[in-house]
Amino acid sequence: MNLFVEFVIQNTEYTVKKLNPSDERILQHLYEQCSDYAILTDGHPPLSSAAADEFLALPEGKTAADKFIFGLFDGHDTLVGMLETIRHYPDDKSWWIGLMMLAPEHRGKGNGSQLYQAYETWVAQHQGQSIFLAVLEENQPGFTFWQKLGFEVIRIAPPQQFGNKVHQRYVMQRQVADI
Ligand SMILES: CC(C)(COP(=O)(O)OP(=O)(O)OC[C@H]1O[C@@H](n2cnc3c(N)ncnc32)[C@H](O)[C@@H]1OP(=O)(O)O)[C@@H](O)C(=O)NCCC(=O)NCCS
Repeated sequence: MNLFVEFVIQNTEYTVKKLNPSDERILQHLYEQCSDYAILTDGHPPLSSAAADEFLALPEGKTAADKFIFGLFDGHDTLVGMLETIRHYPDDKSWWIGLMMLAPEHRGKGNGSQLYQAYETWVAQHQGQSIFLAVLEENQPGFTFWQKLGFEVIRIAPPQQFGNKVHQRYVMQRQVADI
């Protein structure tokens, strides 16, 4: 698979580029802008190693080659959002979204939906048939966002510790649209 990945979001100034470990500093800055989400998830602001940890975190059996962190860049080439995904997980025909977040001032304007749609098109181009994710039960706005994109709950994951908190999560799935 081509390691250099870039796509545009049609009719906007935004572009999407695959991030590499050399982008750690800008990704860390985004994590800090999104501390509301870290507090919701972990009960504390992001660790100073949040971005570095993100590049290393992998589900069992997967390697760094299976992991893609896409960055959403505005017209000034500033990182304003991210979508982290694992290919061929939980099965060979599927992709898993581990995290998607936008800087607060870029939310609620359709950017998240457009980033997702561009990502799904890219997954379809790579023969992905299904997309999975898990959303915290406590993250009602996040749940609504995914539902509006056509994701459906397929199961509830047992409570799990995240930082200082314990969360139950909805595992959701969507069939990739034909291109
Ligand atoms: C979730 C997130 C990625 C969505 O991106 P976004 O750009 O804000 O969402 P959009 O503007 O594209 O909204 C798409 C739809 O979802 C709905 N939605 C988005 N955020 C919402 C919120 N906070 N409350 C209720 N609905 C919301 C919108 O109303 C919109 O519906 P519409 O098309 O009928 O108007 C973004 O808000 C974010 O980064 N949130 C914090 C991190 C997070 O929760 N990530 C998800 C973890 S799995």
